[in-house]
Amino acid sequence: MKTIKIAIDGYSSCGKSTLAKSLATELKFLYIDSGAMYRAITFYALKNGIIDRSNTPDLELLKESLKKIDIRFQRMPKGNMHTILNGVDVENNIRSFGVSKSVSTISAIDFVRTEMVNLQRKLSENDSVVMDGRDIGTVVFPDADLKIFVTASPEVRAQRRYDELIAKGEEDISFEEIFENLKSRDKIDTTRAVSPLKKAEDAVLLDNSEMTIKEQFEYALNLVKQLDAYKDLTK
Ligand code: DC
Repeated sequence: MKTIKIAIDGYSSCGKSTLAKSLATELKFLYIDSGAMYRAITFYALKNGIIDRSNTPDLELLKESLKKIDIRFQRMPKGNMHTILNGVDVENNIRSFGVSKSVSTISAIDFVRTEMVNLQRKLSENDSVVMDGRDIGTVVFPDADLKIFVTASPEVRAQRRYDELIAKGEEDISFEEIFENLKSRDKIDTTRAVSPLKKAEDAVLLDNSEMTIKEQFEYALNLVKQLDAYKDLTK
């Protein structure tokens, strides 16, 4: 059966996951959060001393450890997906600021990316999928039926992440710290040698700085509904 692949890429904290999740729910497609995979490896690396406080990873150990790392997603009763690392639900752990500070370093490593891209393709082999990340439209699914590149100003993105972390109870955090972390992640993500974040030529640019969540959802849903592949699927 023909399946549809929707690739949503963009900068950190620009609302891609919110958009990808709501689209997947509406369309009844599988949702895959590729960033969660890099976060799970980073969490494992921090926990097992594979990356130190100065963010220098032990590459040999990391390569060996990848063989022992199993990442999958599990649907929760409310329909949301949780990240499972070696059988343990790490959904909360991987969203901590500690993981955010090291994840760009881990995700810039070529053998980590090769492994994760293979897993991303494998997990979505038989399904229509909405996947969000940095290289979905450029590397994972260069032939995606629809590619959306999401962006918003750094200030707007930092404020959204700040509000999110405060709401989760991470109180020892300042807006400035988040803003600086965001800018440094943008820099690493866009300048790394392997699969840097960039808009695919055929991606639709969506700047949501001035848009509500509902507005961006409706805009994207409309793009999906115009696809011939979607019309065929729902005939
Ligand atoms: O979307 P996120 O913030 O949860 O992603 C976490 C990190 O993983 C981010 O700093 C960049 C990296 N990432 C990546 O390099 N490639 C992807 N496809 C997804 C995320």
